[in-house]
Amino acid sequence: MAKKLSSNEVFAREDQFGAHNYHPLPVALCKGEGVYLYDMEGKKYFDFLSAYSAVNQGHCHPKIVDALCKQARELTLTSRAFYSDKLGEYEEYLAKLLGYYRVLPMNTGVEAGETACKLARKWGYQVKMIPDNKAKIIFAEGNFWGRTLAAVSSSTDPSSFGGFGPFMPGFEVIPYNNLEALENALQDENVCAFMVEPIQGEAGVVVPSEGYLRGVRDLCTKYNVLWIADEVQTGLGRCGKMLACDHENVRPDIVCLGKALSGGVYPVSAVLANDDIMLCIKPGEHGSTYGGNPLACAVAMAAMEVLIDEKLCENAEKMGVKLREALEKLPKSVVKTVRGKGLLNAIVIESKFDAWNVCLKLKENGLLAKPTHGDIIRFAPPLVITEAELDQCIKIIEETINSFC
Ligand SMILES: Cc1ncc(COP(=O)(O)O)c(C=O)c1O
Repeated sequence: MAKKLSSNEVFAREDQFGAHNYHPLPVALCKGEGVYLYDMEGKKYFDFLSAYSAVNQGHCHPKIVDALCKQARELTLTSRAFYSDKLGEYEEYLAKLLGYYRVLPMNTGVEAGETACKLARKWGYQVKMIPDNKAKIIFAEGNFWGRTLAAVSSSTDPSSFGGFGPFMPGFEVIPYNNLEALENALQDENVCAFMVEPIQGEAGVVVPSEGYLRGVRDLCTKYNVLWIADEVQTGLGRCGKMLACDHENVRPDIVCLGKALSGGVYPVSAVLANDDIMLCIKPGEHGSTYGGNPLACAVAMAAMEVLIDEKLCENAEKMGVKLREALEKLPKSVVKTVRGKGLLNAIVIESKFDAWNVCLKLKENGLLAKPTHGDIIRFAPPLVITEAELDQCIKIIEETINSFC
């Protein structure tokens, strides 16, 4: 049996043999269960990142892992050259669950975004009759939808796009949470879509004003432009409803899902839309070898059943209120702002305290969270967190923040 490494040995090996495209918190994990993670030395932590909201159902959820193992013994991959017994079952299940006619299965969140952009362009040419190669997609400042060249082409964050040009043409960026700017942009008849996150996750949990999403819906309808909602991070219970857009009772034309669609056990993403949009893409025009494979389908159905059976949307809503109430009471000399919805939350730290150091201290005290943009810490535990567990987490956060006063 291989010798068990220490945390330091794990850091050193990744550092030596891996690309340096991440800057992880110095913690080496080897086990996860529910809201807990364990490091190489057996220390137990609360996970307050949930793998960027992929692990909404908690680590290694037995029902999802069972579905994975069972399907892995039957059939894992056929490619889309053939039918499989699982794909249609999954597509029907997901489409009906979310109220769309059709599902286009992919693997990662960024592929869902790419797929949505391709669908919107096709629709723009075939239905809106935009002249060839003139279609435009509008994005919001601060957006994040992944790391491909198309995704970084719409980014306003220099660490995402810097040094990776030339960029995708036909992309335009407007301020987030600004309906006037959107209306101006939509006047251009070559615009086929507006792609936006209902809450900007990677930007630091930026929650738009109440009514923004309703306004987006109305403007997109008025100007015959598709609204693409990137719910890869906000969706599937994270914000206290199945989709974050449900908070304003609005329905996007295209929805992108990923992350928690598998509960963190496998890369599964999907795009949902109705026939008028989805059927614009014909056989051979888009796809993925792994997209919609039987293993992914079985895992995703189990992951969705867990969300529903365990009432995780409701729990996220309830625990989110409790968490923000406690965060609001933290000393303002350290925590400037608290924001969020459901269990997607963030605190903004006063600039004289580095959020990285706060995260190191939280880690020492048994809670894992990751800073973003130097002064923001996201608090997004798995949605299975109980009230008693949340009480313990609040205590850790209070003690940690108070130690900086
Ligand atoms: C809103 C949003 N869209 C898309 C993505 C990309 O997902 P993936 O990393 O699975 O490609 C992310 C990742 O954080 C995201 O937050």
